[in-house]
Amino acid sequence: MGRVNAMRRRATVPSFEPASVLGALASAVVALDADNLIRYVNAAAEQLFQSGAHYLCGTPITDLLPSDSPVLALVEQARHEALVVSEYGILLDTPRTGHRTVTVQVSPLVEVPGCVVISLHEQSIALKIGGSLASRNAARSVTAMAAMLAHEVKNPLSGIRGAAQLLEAAASEDDRVLTRLIVDEADRIVALVDRMEVFSDKAPGERGPVNIHQVLEHVRRIAENGFARHVRFVENYDPSLPPVFGNRDQLIQVFLNLVKNAAEAAPAEGGEVVLSTAYQHGVRLAVPGSEARRHLPLLVSVLDNGAGIPEDLRPHLFDAFVTTKPTGTGLGLALVAKIIGDHGGVVEFDSMPRRTLFRVMLPMVQEGDGY
Ligand SMILES: Nc1ncnc2c1ncn2[C@@H]1O[C@H](COP(=O)(O)OP(=O)(O)OP(=O)(O)O)[C@@H](O)[C@H]1O
Ligand SMILES: [Mg+2]
Repeated sequence: MGRVNAMRRRATVPSFEPASVLGALASAVVALDADNLIRYVNAAAEQLFQSGAHYLCGTPITDLLPSDSPVLALVEQARHEALVVSEYGILLDTPRTGHRTVTVQVSPLVEVPGCVVISLHEQSIALKIGGSLASRNAARSVTAMAAMLAHEVKNPLSGIRGAAQLLEAAASEDDRVLTRLIVDEADRIVALVDRMEVFSDKAPGERGPVNIHQVLEHVRRIAENGFARHVRFVENYDPSLPPVFGNRDQLIQVFLNLVKNAAEAAPAEGGEVVLSTAYQHGVRLAVPGSEARRHLPLLVSVLDNGAGIPEDLRPHLFDAFVTTKPTGTGLGLALVAKIIGDHGGVVEFDSMPRRTLFRVMLPMVQEGDGY
């Protein structure tokens, strides 16, 4: 019976033309031959370059983009290294395209030597990076506040705490409850201020080669014995991953915060958190205001099967004090953005119900890092 139904379904479903599938894509797709002549554009590319396929096909890509465009450099790189290369945050600024920030990916067409396919994703991922850069600004204002709190709150608090302890010695049993309350609450505020102090730029932390799998193991052990008892962990590691260039304690903090959020989001029954690592060829971040490109080949991701991130929270997710939890501080992700930013990396997220993914991209140890 099932087989008959399946056959009937197959018979009635129309077959898809690859061109109509490409036409439905939101990303612009441009295929180039070995002489850099455009051979194919999809509808999104027609829109991006404000011309029809009949004009664009046969035109050299160099007519559309300035000769120093990073897109052309990527095309050359993909061709010569026969690798997929991508770059975040490329600025397109031509009369046709206007002023846009895009993520560009160039893939060699294996079947036809010299031919490459360029895809340009307007803003989406680039915007998320903008978000995490904006969160760096948010973190900066938190930095000033952390310094102020340490000075203006912590010092007087230790005085208040000491005074309460002195009073306790001579107090009645009833009053001791109150002096202890003062001490406990003072401790709680000191702990909060301490948490904020990490934002201060005073101690960026020593950096060196860090085995990210050891970091993730450490985080998983803490999680399993505490806040993530209800969660099943799945590990999906690339064992050949080279070391991250970073600070071990800070990276533990980052993944602890991400895993804690994932565990808090995961359902009480059937909650699952997947930790993955992978090596990505050719992912680079354009450094704003400079020609430099930063290579970010190490990908570490945390996936959960919770309800997803509320839509209205997304634009501000990495800002400090953004929280939906009754006892949350909203500092977790702000700290993640700050630390990953200090490492020269990128953090981004994708979220839908039962599938929320945080992706952290980090640099590896390179010659010249002193190791
Ligand atoms: N994996 C996730 N799934 C769903 N929502 C998430 C996830 N991670 C973060 N969020 C949302 O982002 C908000 C901010 O997270 P953040 O870690 O900065 O603060 P918090 O978890 O609320 O507080 P704290 O980290 O201090 O415990 C959370 O309150 C939650 O609404
Ligand atoms: Mg959190």
